[in-house]
Amino acid sequence: MSSSAAQQIPLQLEARIAQLAADAPTQPWLGREQKQALRAEIKQLLQTQNAQLVAHYYVDDELQSLAEETGGIVADSLEMANFGAHTSAKTLVVCGVRFMGETAKMLSPEKTVLMPDLQATCSLDVGCPAKEFGEFCAAHPQHKVVVYANTSVEVKALADWVVTSGNALQIVRHLKEQGHKIIWAPDRHLGNWIEQQTGIEMLRWQGHCIVHDEFKSYELQALREQHPQAKVLVHPESPAAVVAQADVVGSTKVLLNAVQTLPDAQFIVATDYNIFYKMQQLAPHKQLLVAPTGGHGATCKSCAHCPWMAMNGLQNLRDCLLNQAPQIQLDETIRQKALASVQRMLDFSRQTGLVSAAPSPSS
Ligand code: 13P
Ligand code: SF4
Repeated sequence: MSSSAAQQIPLQLEARIAQLAADAPTQPWLGREQKQALRAEIKQLLQTQNAQLVAHYYVDDELQSLAEETGGIVADSLEMANFGAHTSAKTLVVCGVRFMGETAKMLSPEKTVLMPDLQATCSLDVGCPAKEFGEFCAAHPQHKVVVYANTSVEVKALADWVVTSGNALQIVRHLKEQGHKIIWAPDRHLGNWIEQQTGIEMLRWQGHCIVHDEFKSYELQALREQHPQAKVLVHPESPAAVVAQADVVGSTKVLLNAVQTLPDAQFIVATDYNIFYKMQQLAPHKQLLVAPTGGHGATCKSCAHCPWMAMNGLQNLRDCLLNQAPQIQLDETIRQKALASVQRMLDFSRQTGLVSAAPSPSS
């Protein structure tokens, strides 16, 4: 890939991302009794409002377990979208980051989509503004535009295809077989990994995830030397030198499957450490180690935990149900445009068996 074809992110956007991450509020500490009372209240509200929780693996354990206990789902971003589109609930409460709520509303405009905090963003989304991205696409009109789900509805409306880490490889391979040239946005590392896997060259936007970008290859190597038996699991939003050390590279769901199905007893995991809740549940006797984010060049922007996923807590979850706010609202024209590329992704994923046609709730 010639670097001249890549679209760098302006420095002021990098500064804005760092500021937003630093300003993301942490959730208040709650005692056991407070948690129990809130959990009971939330369960009651979900029932009376015919609402379901749609939670990502990176949110707090309390929210993941509530979703499981109330017939909702805990999943990766692809399964979250698939579940929201199928469930008959009147209200979806999305515990994750804003693009996940937007995708839910896009697919189910008739449903109320609540989120504990609409300020819960994603550095990939912030680093890919629709105006600049639209100009980039307009300069390359012969290319198919493939965007990662971690983008705004306005950016999705510019795309031919939306992908997640759970299907990006298969979709790009499919487009390559059809002879298409591709614009890829926004994650530079995921784009790089897909190029390596498929042999295609794409015009790449140079966004990054502040959580996965922080994993350090030199320190990972040292940790592997200390634990030579451990298998290394890496989300492809991580830098190439980290991905190169992986035994398994894939979406959160792929990494979970690896912990559950591989015979090994010890794993080093390069993704948000809140995924350990589910990993430990699926494989209680296995030992999980967080891949290092400290060491040479450490910035401690995330320490392997997404500051925006961490904005979801029991109190603001209860409050959003009580107040029926904040809700995701989308402009109808933009929604329709974005829907086409998201629907294309879901149809492809269902046809190829990447997601099931009728997803079941978490148990
Ligand atoms: P998944 O699509 O694997 O759930 O990842 C979403 C995400 O935000 C990763 O950082
Ligand atoms: Fe975005 Fe990274 Fe947070 Fe995922 S972990 S939501 S990619 S900032």
